[in-house]
Amino acid sequence: MSKHDTLVAKEKAAICNTYGRYPLNVSKASGSRLWDLDGREYIDLLSGISVVNIGHCPEELVEVMIEQSRKLVQVSNLFYQEEQVECAEKLLATCAAGKVFFCNSGAEANEAAIKLARRYMRTVKERDAYEIITLEGSFHGRTLATLTATGQTGPIKDGFAPLPEGFKYVPAGDVETLKAAVTPKTAAVMIEMVQGEGGIKPLPEEYVKAVTEIVAENDILLIVDEVQSGLCRTGKWWAHQHYGIVPHIFTSAKALANGLPMGAMLATDEVAKGFAPGSHATTFGGGALVAKVSSKVIDIMNERDLAGRAAELGDHFKDKALKLQEKFPGKIKSVRGMGLMLGVELSFDGSAVFAGLREKGFILNLTKGTILRLLPALTIDRADLDAFLSTLEELLENA
Ligand SMILES: Cc1ncc(COP(=O)(O)O)c(C=O)c1O
Repeated sequence: MSKHDTLVAKEKAAICNTYGRYPLNVSKASGSRLWDLDGREYIDLLSGISVVNIGHCPEELVEVMIEQSRKLVQVSNLFYQEEQVECAEKLLATCAAGKVFFCNSGAEANEAAIKLARRYMRTVKERDAYEIITLEGSFHGRTLATLTATGQTGPIKDGFAPLPEGFKYVPAGDVETLKAAVTPKTAAVMIEMVQGEGGIKPLPEEYVKAVTEIVAENDILLIVDEVQSGLCRTGKWWAHQHYGIVPHIFTSAKALANGLPMGAMLATDEVAKGFAPGSHATTFGGGALVAKVSSKVIDIMNERDLAGRAAELGDHFKDKALKLQEKFPGKIKSVRGMGLMLGVELSFDGSAVFAGLREKGFILNLTKGTILRLLPALTIDRADLDAFLSTLEELLENA
C-alpha cells in the first residue's frame, strides 16, 4: 500500500466519519506551498480555508511561538494576562468596537454574539427580545445555536432536532421581507457581508444600508459574522468597513492566530454591558500563547499592509478572470469576490475541472458543485494566481 492509502485506512479506523476529504494528504507547508507524504508540491489557494492569511509557518511567527511557549502557554481566565490585553488592544485598534471576548473558533464567537445580543436585550434594554434573524444561504457554525442560525436546510441540519428556538431566516437582498420579519421579540439581525460557504456572495450596498436603517428604526442589534471575511481578507481589515457601517457586534476567528485556534467576538462598549462575570466564559479563550501569536499576526498585517495587498491582488485576479469569462461566456457564469475572497462560478458541474486543477497541483475548494472558491494567503505571489488562471484556461478549452 502507498503511504497515502495506509493513512486513509488508518483514518477510517480511527476518526469519526464527518468529512468528505480530498484524496490528498498534507505533511508539510511553507508560505503558499504544500507537500504530501511523497514530496509532491502543490500551490495552496485555500490557506486552510482562510486561516493562514500570512502564509504557512512564517519564521517570525514560529519564533514567537517558541519564545512564548517557554514563558507561558495557558493559565485560564481566572488571571489577568498581559498577552491577552495587548492582543485585545491591537484588535480594537483595527475597528470601531469597544470590547473583545476571546474564544477558540468561529462557531464559539458567533455563539457568544447570539448570547450577548439576547442578554443585552434582557438585562440592559429590559425587553424580552431574543429572536435572531439571519439570511438564507448563510453559514454561522456547527454548534446547536450557530447551526440553527445558519440559513440552510438539508444534511447540515438533519437528525439534530430539537434545534434551539428563536431564529428566523429571510432571503438576502429582500428588504420588505426583512422588515416584515422584525417583531417586538427580535433581538438582532445577523449577516455575513460576503457569504463564504454560500458561494462568495457579497451583499449589495443598498441592501446593507436598508438593513442598518431597519435595525436603527427598531432599536435592535446588527451582528456581522466576519469569521471568513475578516482580517484583511477582503481588502480592508473587516468586510463591513467597505460598507461604512459599525455593527453592534462582529465576530472573528480563522486567521486570527494564523492557524492556532482563536476566535473573538467584538462589541460596542454599550452592547458589551450585556455580559457580566459568570454570564459567559471559556477555559482556553485568549490564552497567553494564542494571544501572543495573534498580536504578531495583527502587527504583520499592518506592517505589510496585507489589506492593501489583498485588494490589489484581488483586482488583478478578477480582471484576468473576467477576460477568461469573455473568452468562455458559456462556461464561466460569473466572477465574484472582494479582495482575495474569490469565486469563479462555472455554468456546469465543476467536479472534473476541480479534479483537473488538483491534478495540476492547485489546491482550492468547490462549493455548491459549480463555484471554484479561492482564499489564498494574502502573501501569495501574483505569479501563483496567474499560473492558476492559465491552468484554468487550458482546462476550460476542453471542458
Ligand atoms: C462565516 C463563517 N462563520 C462561522 C464559521 C464557523 O467557524 P468554525 O469552523 O471556526 O467554528 C465559518 C467557518 O467556515 C464561517 O465561514
